[in-house]
Amino acid sequence: PFPVYARLRETEPVHFDKSVNAWILTRYADVSAVMKDRRFSSDRVTKARLRYSDKYEPVFDLLSRVMLQTDDPMHKRLRDLVHGAFTRTVVETYDGKIRALCDTLLAPGLERGEMEFVSEFAAPLPILVISEIVGIPAEEREQIKIWCDAFSTVALNFYTHLSDEQLDHCSVLIAEFTDYLKDKMAAARRKPGPDLISSLVVAADREHALDDGELIANCMFLLNAGNETTTCLLANGLGLLLGAPDQMAALRADPSLIPNAVEEFLRLQGPVQFIGRIATQDVTLGEQRVKEGEMVLPVLAAANRDPAVFERPDMLDVARDHIHQLSFGTGPHLCAGIQLARFEAKIAFERLFECTGHIELKGHGLEHTSNFNMRCLKELHVGIR
Ligand code: HEM
Repeated sequence: PFPVYARLRETEPVHFDKSVNAWILTRYADVSAVMKDRRFSSDRVTKARLRYSDKYEPVFDLLSRVMLQTDDPMHKRLRDLVHGAFTRTVVETYDGKIRALCDTLLAPGLERGEMEFVSEFAAPLPILVISEIVGIPAEEREQIKIWCDAFSTVALNFYTHLSDEQLDHCSVLIAEFTDYLKDKMAAARRKPGPDLISSLVVAADREHALDDGELIANCMFLLNAGNETTTCLLANGLGLLLGAPDQMAALRADPSLIPNAVEEFLRLQGPVQFIGRIATQDVTLGEQRVKEGEMVLPVLAAANRDPAVFERPDMLDVARDHIHQLSFGTGPHLCAGIQLARFEAKIAFERLFECTGHIELKGHGLEHTSNFNMRCLKELHVGIR
């Protein structure tokens, strides 16, 4: 997609696309400005739900309570709840656990001398980490994964298209997931533990800030938000390094560059390609007039390669200075899991380099998933020793 983004950025940076019925923004300045501008709403549910049958109301009620889909003052109330849960200080307390999980996932591949990095490492790691944090016991994780997949199917596709079959199937699973979380919350109220559900319940009750519907919707979202995204970051990051041996060598020589390299991976191959906002009034963007009610799509992946901001924007440079990439968004909805995602990726690449002397690409070229919003390598077969 990158040549298309570049062409749009040069010729028509604020472009109305009839096939998606939305404005496509490709300049860094516009993308960043719109995400900070409260004249653009994050509530995509209210409008989209009108297209679906009333029988799916419970699913849309739940979605409408997820912080990502709300504006102030509701957004602030929901977001305040998780504010303390993913600060850098809190996240760093998971250091030992994340390291141990990385080592467990790398061990079989190291023994065989090869691995499929996506399914054996990049996909399971984030789910294991968030399950530890939220307090999901190992034996329940397989079921949670099925429920999470149902939730993300709805959350990722409701504003384009969902069939009745999909919605019927997902509604049942989401209702089961809701009951499961209700039980968890009841247990946490009786006997709070050190897990995230306990601390969210205690905080919500103490401040009477959130009702159970809001708590459940946002717990579900937290269990999901960092999974596919972090998987893509890890997979795309290693994919980029395998295509640039000098950059891999630079990181091996100086692992203190890893956090910077992670920002560079996010800039060049960010997981979330674009996000959606709806204009709440007429707004002029560049030379165009966006009308109230219209959808705009700030393309993060295009902004991240804007030559007005980044020198040699298509080059991977793990030592690049000041990488103010937009892959976590910006403004009030800036990713709430940013510290966790960065820390997890830092440890993952550290352990990968510490446990191996050499990593090489095996098999044919690299292929990305066809999902048009989430950019991720499908598979990454590597030889490791
Ligand atoms: C929001 C990306 C990992 C939790 C966002 C947004 C982006 C994003 C672009 C803003 C969406 C918008 O403005 O509409 C990413 C990427 C990740 C990642 C690229 C990994 C590389 C995580 C993790 C968690 C998390 C690990 C937590 C466990 C959230 C939450 C929000 C959010 C709660 C909503 C914030 C709000 O609406 O105020 N993320 N994310 N994310 N992310 Fe992440």
